[in-house]
Amino acid sequence: MRMPRVVLTGLLLTTVAVVGPALPTPAVAAALPYQDPALPVATRVDDLLARMTLDDKVGQMTQAERKVVTAADLTSYRLGSVLSGGGSAPSPNTPAAWADMYDGFQRGALATPLQIPIIYGIDAVHGNNNVYGSTIFPHNIGLGATRDPALVQRIGRATAEEVTGAGQDWTFAPCLCVARNDRWGRTYESFGETAELPSAMTTIIDGFQGTTLDGPASVLATAKHYLGDGGTTGGTDQGNTQISEAELRAIHLPPFAAAVDRGVGSVMISYSSFNGSRLHGHKYLITDVLKGELGFSGFVVSDWAAIDQLDGQRGFTQAEVVTAVNAGLDMLMVPTDWKTFVSYLRSAVQAGQIPMSRIDDANRRILTKKFELGLFERPYADRSYASTVGSADHRALARQAVRQSQVLLKNAGGVLPLAKTGGKIFVAGKNADDIGNQSGGWTLSWQGGSGNTVPGTSILTGIRSAVGGGTTVTYHRDGTGIDSSYRAAIAVVGETPYAEYSGDRTGSLGLDAADLATIARLRATGVPVIVVLVSGRPLDVAAEVGNWNALLAAWLPGSEGAGVADVLFGDHAPTGKLPMTWMQSAAQQPINDGDGKTPLFQYGYGLTYGTATR
Ligand code: BGC
Ligand code: BGC
Repeated sequence: MRMPRVVLTGLLLTTVAVVGPALPTPAVAAALPYQDPALPVATRVDDLLARMTLDDKVGQMTQAERKVVTAADLTSYRLGSVLSGGGSAPSPNTPAAWADMYDGFQRGALATPLQIPIIYGIDAVHGNNNVYGSTIFPHNIGLGATRDPALVQRIGRATAEEVTGAGQDWTFAPCLCVARNDRWGRTYESFGETAELPSAMTTIIDGFQGTTLDGPASVLATAKHYLGDGGTTGGTDQGNTQISEAELRAIHLPPFAAAVDRGVGSVMISYSSFNGSRLHGHKYLITDVLKGELGFSGFVVSDWAAIDQLDGQRGFTQAEVVTAVNAGLDMLMVPTDWKTFVSYLRSAVQAGQIPMSRIDDANRRILTKKFELGLFERPYADRSYASTVGSADHRALARQAVRQSQVLLKNAGGVLPLAKTGGKIFVAGKNADDIGNQSGGWTLSWQGGSGNTVPGTSILTGIRSAVGGGTTVTYHRDGTGIDSSYRAAIAVVGETPYAEYSGDRTGSLGLDAADLATIARLRATGVPVIVVLVSGRPLDVAAEVGNWNALLAAWLPGSEGAGVADVLFGDHAPTGKLPMTWMQSAAQQPINDGDGKTPLFQYGYGLTYGTATR
């Protein structure tokens, strides 16, 4: 539910009544059929489409990045959408400044003759992660470990409220990739390596979109990246998925079919190729399979500057625009070169290279979602949700997700759970006291970063608040100062933040030298060592795990590190199950459930307290 607007009717300026969500029809009858919320959406779309010029239609299909577009541009070029790339935020980075920015753009859009509102897209991929102060939920790999689709739906709802509070209407989530090779830097964006697990977690779409798109705090969801992004050879980002169509359909298609069944509003195309053909030009998979066979009626959006890649040369040409739009792309994410795109698309239509029916279909799909979202009636930011940003309720939900996502892989002699009272506990490791590290990529910036990048609770702080009186917690990042007087040592180690491309690991998938040295320092004292792995994927630890007393996979928990302590100290017994097969060695990649390879820990593995130890 967004805020009402002023309706401009020719020379007549009237105001739609501004009270509450339960408003029936505007106080003043809308002048034109498409402005009348009492009419069916399809009728409104037909009426509007009939009034649109080619320039209006071309503009609707164009999405520009906030840094390279102004409100005046939106008016002159009649653009349909604006996005924030990873970390692209107004200054100051507050929900109010985001809402002001959004309203400013929206005023530009509403100054066009037909007053068509923009839709604003953002990567709210684990909470509304670009907006400072937002609750940062675990990345999808951890949510997959919870095996709890109802919890994931609640996370979608909480995220939608925080997105709404900052003024945006559309998230580029969920990623429904089925990550098959852990070398891929986007493995953590995957709910799991099987078709079933990401399919089950499409409940997050119900959370984002609410029961109806024009309901309170509903935001449009995006199933991405269609299709086969997690199946590339070698796990190379934006690579080539070289499998049969039967395997593509069996492994990678089901989550998208589930998303379409749930009414997902948009689908983002993958940078990757299928057997050498770029998805962004793949008419069969986009138009025939997605829109035809699966019956997807929302709109298809391209990935960031992805049409540039169709011919393998830098930048894009008119021919690439023709290929992409004719393949079935409806909205084009042309972040910086949107003016060139507008002129190429217009020329291509005028030259008959793209049929008008394709342009009308794209517009119909985009406008239908805008009407369904209620953007024509309430185009401005709904600031009443700003108080939900980083709220105590949402942080409590995130903490619950963190504890449910912990996967206990080893617990020799039942060293866990740790007693809360008495003695001394030593905590070490580069990820013990680093909210940036525990949050991973797509946190305030595109690639994420180390340090106190966002407010929250580090794993160390969670441990300190879990212990009762009489227990001393000593922390040193590299383990310096430990001696045999401690009753337990917790090493919080693993990966540091990365996102797409930079996160690909072609060599070792093991711990780095600093982590190994930290653990060795703890072990040398004879104190039982509990290793907590903060990572975006399974790591190659087979050679070391025999020396550790316990191993807990924490994934990328986000801002609420106390959820890790909830499990370490037994307030909650671990229930997480592996969403990915855990390799015996990096050479086994890709290794997946049912492929006959012998893993270190199989898909679905996870101990709890009071059960057999390993
Ligand atoms: C990513 C998408 C993301 C888009 C916008 C691309 O580089 O692949 O997942 O939604 O950028 O930030
Ligand atoms: C943007 C991301 C985008 C990426 C693609 C970055 O500059 O911030 O949103 O996904 O570029 O290369």
